[in-house]
Amino acid sequence: MFRKLHEPESAVTILIDGVEVAAEIGEPVAAVILRQEEPWSRLNPVTNERRAPYCMMGVCFECLAEVDGKASIQTCLKPVCPGMRVSRQRGKRSIGA
Ligand code: FES
Repeated sequence: MFRKLHEPESAVTILIDGVEVAAEIGEPVAAVILRQEEPWSRLNPVTNERRAPYCMMGVCFECLAEVDGKASIQTCLKPVCPGMRVSRQRGKRSIGA
């Protein structure tokens, strides 16, 4: 659906659900998620519907995902770092996670 308009200046690899994907250092993790074939970030904990980043400015909370073991991270506000591990969030965040 989405693609970059330029070649990344500082390309790195991150993992999304264990799959290596190309990203650019400093771009929002949500932007990387939106470039994937299945561009969703979390499942609605009530209806189990797929949700995807929407506002890209920290307002809607549709972009929540697990980043480096921490759940409910707003991926639109989280810049890509080398070696980052992202998991699509399934269900509610557990206490202490
Ligand atoms: S996309 Fe709306 S809060 Fe992240």
